[in-house]
Amino acid sequence: MYFVANWKMFGNLKSLNTLDKVIKFSKSKEIKKGRLIYCPPYTLISSFYKKFKNCLIDLGAQNCHESDAYGSYTGFINSKMLKNIGANYVIIGHSENRKKGENDKLINLKIKSAIKAKLKVIFCIGETLSEKNKGKTKLILSKQIRLGLNKVQKKSNIFIAYEPIWSIGTGKILKNRDLDQIIKFIKYKFKGKLPKILYGGSVNTQNINDLKKISSLDGFLIGGASQNAKKFIDIVKKTYS
Ligand code: 13P
Repeated sequence: MYFVANWKMFGNLKSLNTLDKVIKFSKSKEIKKGRLIYCPPYTLISSFYKKFKNCLIDLGAQNCHESDAYGSYTGFINSKMLKNIGANYVIIGHSENRKKGENDKLINLKIKSAIKAKLKVIFCIGETLSEKNKGKTKLILSKQIRLGLNKVQKKSNIFIAYEPIWSIGTGKILKNRDLDQIIKFIKYKFKGKLPKILYGGSVNTQNINDLKKISSLDGFLIGGASQNAKKFIDIVKKTYS
């Protein structure tokens, strides 16, 4: 199981101290088969990399520019630069970035450039509350998958993170049965080679006890709870208990 910590726009140099607990945990037997991946803000990737150098915790970024070349794009960072500083993953298509204007076409370009730089992509998809209420969830997910992965060759490096927008940071979460159906629907879209599927949206130390029962899931993309080392560790421990 993959446990991906998305720190969003949180964290500073002081936060590095909180990682000691997680590093210790990652070296213990208690981690079982859990794989930990941290996606801190760009400013902290290098510092995290140094911290994690003697352990198996992996690193990712939260976005990248769509160009795979260097260029005059003030304020942006491309996938090559991320790979160069030790990131192996990148989150693309997060709803918080879609809300800022990223469309499926741009997301598709970003995914292609990340794959070219040999990054693994955590590709976020999910519907709004109003789309859900209109019964459009599957339609929206299909469209996001079709356009986001248009002509993407190396699908083996794609993780799909299903994050219902209405569930992010709200504490609201689908019933297991409904979530399982959606995960199976996403898998069905891929036929032959199945991507790993993560769930994201209000994952916490309580609801993990239910979520872990969904056998079609390969892991979790965790926002708020991942910024607290104890909560993040608890989520992993509970998944295997
Ligand atoms: P929360 O876990 O805070 O709901 O955030 C989910 C998320 O957006 C992870 O990418």
